[in-house]
Amino acid sequence: MTRRAVVTGVFSYTGGAIARQLLDHGDEVVSLSRRPAPAGHPLAGAVAREPLQFDDTELLVRSLEGADLLFNTYWIRFPRDGADFASAVANSRALFEAAGRAGIRRIVHLSVTNAAVDSPYAYFRGKAAVEVALAETTSEHAVIRPSLVFGGREEILVNNMAWLLRKLPAYAVPGDGSYRVQPVFVGDVAELAIAAAEGAGPTLQDAVGPEIYTFDVFLAALARALHARSRLVHLPPAVVVALGRAIGPLVRDVLITAEELGALTSELLISHQPATGHTSFREWLPGAAPWLGRRYANELRRNWAETG
Ligand SMILES: NC(=O)c1ccc[n+]([C@@H]2O[C@H](COP(=O)([O-])OP(=O)(O)OC[C@H]3O[C@@H](n4cnc5c(N)ncnc54)[C@H](OP(=O)(O)O)[C@@H]3O)[C@@H](O)[C@H]2O)c1
Repeated sequence: MTRRAVVTGVFSYTGGAIARQLLDHGDEVVSLSRRPAPAGHPLAGAVAREPLQFDDTELLVRSLEGADLLFNTYWIRFPRDGADFASAVANSRALFEAAGRAGIRRIVHLSVTNAAVDSPYAYFRGKAAVEVALAETTSEHAVIRPSLVFGGREEILVNNMAWLLRKLPAYAVPGDGSYRVQPVFVGDVAELAIAAAEGAGPTLQDAVGPEIYTFDVFLAALARALHARSRLVHLPPAVVVALGRAIGPLVRDVLITAEELGALTSELLISHQPATGHTSFREWLPGAAPWLGRRYANELRRNWAETG
């Protein structure tokens, strides 16, 4: 039976991967997005679009009515332009309430590994607060917590690490590079989200790949695949943040935040559960090397309506 699924951000990153798999299963997909599909987007003709407008609850309810499932990928990477993690929590709560009123059968929500109300990092505290808000709803729900997501041409973080490795003779690694990351393929995240929508698996699970790397080994594998000669240089995290701030204006973007480096170096991007994704980063790399990091992916242009 065809299901109708509303997905936030079909024309963005993870939402696009979820939408593609739902369409492959024969489901009907509606995107909740702030903007119409970018010109030429491959999913533009395949999905309807409703506005992602949190300050109009009635509109949100109408956009969700008639749907069986809601996949929520909405979040902000950092505070900016009057938006902060508290407002992102409030927006998420408004979306869940609207979904309840619209009669959505099940909400699948994307969080992050190691979200915790007492995390030193506001991003992770906010994510935990959204999980609490979701638990308070009457809708059936499941939470998927990804680590560092790779794969797909819409991706920003790994793409820009690759761009820096290609461009610069030296790559500034925060700290000693011995802390670990457990990257997960975007298609595996989508697979887990869709299985969760069907009620398969636990209602709270990490989306993490089969390999754990130290950050140095992760970067070295990336550099090798790209044939990049950039040398890894270990610097205090504060210096790396300052370098990021210095490069930011050159690319008209926010490259990395102190919080993001803190979370990375505190090993928040690994799981303490068995792996749930199956795609190997190392095996994925050779196929991606021809395009990965060729162009800088601009967060501000993509997500903050800035011309970059
Ligand atoms: N990417 C990762 O490595 C990673 C790792 C761990 C957890 N996650 C979590 O996984 C989820 C999906 O991540 P993603 O990287 O795929 O995100 P994304 O596609 O860039 O954005 C997901 C959604 O958030 C909206 N959004 C993004 N920035 C916004 C802003 N500044 N203001 C208002 N709305 C904004 C997008 O709206 P539009 O579609 O309208 O643009 C889209 O609906 C997020 O909850 C994220 O926290 C991601």
